[in-house]
Amino acid sequence: MKISVIGTGYVGLVTGTCLAETGNEVICVDIDEQKVQRMRKGEVPIYEPHLDILFERNIKAGRLKFSTSLSEGLDHGEIIFLALPTPENGDGAADLSYVLGVAEEIGNLITDYKVIVDKSTVPVGTADKVKKVIAESAKCEFDVVSNPEFLREGFAVDDFLKPERIIIGSSSEKATELMKKLYKPFVRSGNPIIVMDERSAELTKYAANSFLAAKITFMNEIANYCEKVGADVDQVRKGMGTDSRIGKRFLFPGIGYGGSCFPKDVKALQKAGREKGYDFKMLDAIIKVNKNQKTILLPKIREYFNNDLKGKTFALWGLSFKPETDDIREAPSLAIIDHLLIEGAKINAYDPEAMTNVERLLGNKINFGSSMYDVLQDADALIICTEWSIFRTPDFRRIKDRLINNVIFDGRNVYDLQDVEKEGISYFSIGRKD
Ligand code: UGA
Repeated sequence: MKISVIGTGYVGLVTGTCLAETGNEVICVDIDEQKVQRMRKGEVPIYEPHLDILFERNIKAGRLKFSTSLSEGLDHGEIIFLALPTPENGDGAADLSYVLGVAEEIGNLITDYKVIVDKSTVPVGTADKVKKVIAESAKCEFDVVSNPEFLREGFAVDDFLKPERIIIGSSSEKATELMKKLYKPFVRSGNPIIVMDERSAELTKYAANSFLAAKITFMNEIANYCEKVGADVDQVRKGMGTDSRIGKRFLFPGIGYGGSCFPKDVKALQKAGREKGYDFKMLDAIIKVNKNQKTILLPKIREYFNNDLKGKTFALWGLSFKPETDDIREAPSLAIIDHLLIEGAKINAYDPEAMTNVERLLGNKINFGSSMYDVLQDADALIICTEWSIFRTPDFRRIKDRLINNVIFDGRNVYDLQDVEKEGISYFSIGRKD
């Protein structure tokens, strides 16, 4: 099939590339000329495992092309994916100006039937708005479909190629059939394509992300309480997670959720609720608890150093909001760094992928090391903010040799308590015995 993807951010790029992988002819459109030039040469503008291999393969095969011309994209595709940014505006709502701006141009430019697909996370009612804007100037038939994306950063290619479900919000049979045809190769395993109305599809995305944020946040509160009563959250998590009604996943406590999705979507749903006179009390609590959770290690650090962090140096492992990404949006590491700097501490940080992004943001306010062991040299303590695999089985001897105090503050419960204890290292983690 002929597909166009408007917007080559994270979702657009993964969507375009994976759709080319199943034999579709895809054109990805972006207004950023330099980015388009780079992509034409095979350069992947984001860090996402395995995307580079698919990217190169499909460009070489001529199935994946790039353009700065919206009209070229609209001429080419029978299905047009909108994968445009929907940033949080000043008051927590989703800013739809990019989506509606492109919708207006689509209305002016299309000359034959198109299915326009909202792929970005957009508030309930957006498909109707897009429809209305296009209809104002369109001279041909078209349909608008909501098809929310459930990709996780770091696993995006796998999630796209083997989705647990596809959600299609559509009130047109013709559009639904085309979408089903497009996604058929991805659900051969028998996973469902669930068709519903546009508004329900739009809400499904917010509800899923907010629920997952709630699940994590609940476990974070249980972890905090475990510390008060001498219970071990790892045991509690296992005990709870084996109940299939609860499930094992997304029960890992830590220093809070971050990234470009959960924080934005929880706030947007809360805001959208208020606009309709509905007060999501649970969402308020999630936002509040998560904000506090990001700095939950600080009281432990302060206590260890007798409330005097001035002049202390901290080695910090992990800057990205989670492993396998260079994304630092809403990363808990940034909240910790902020506080430590205010209290006069110095930071030597290491992250396998995210250092460039943090340097861009913080300049020389913190130091960066070339390896995880490098940053430990003469540091007073080690803080772990992200559970990158490389941190999982460290050489504890090298840690002890370099640190001034044998102490680790771990925001992601990376190690077994006994393993660290055996090494004679003081270990503070989340919801477990210190
Ligand atoms: C999330 C959803 O998982 C995807 O389904 C969705 O498509 C995506 O948002 C989106 O809306 O685009 P993502 O933000 O990439 O994906 O990351 P997750 O793997 O879900 O992790 C989010 C945050 O929760 C991370 O900060 C992670 O460290 C934290 N987390 C996750 C925990 O603290 N505990 C857990 O048990 C799981």
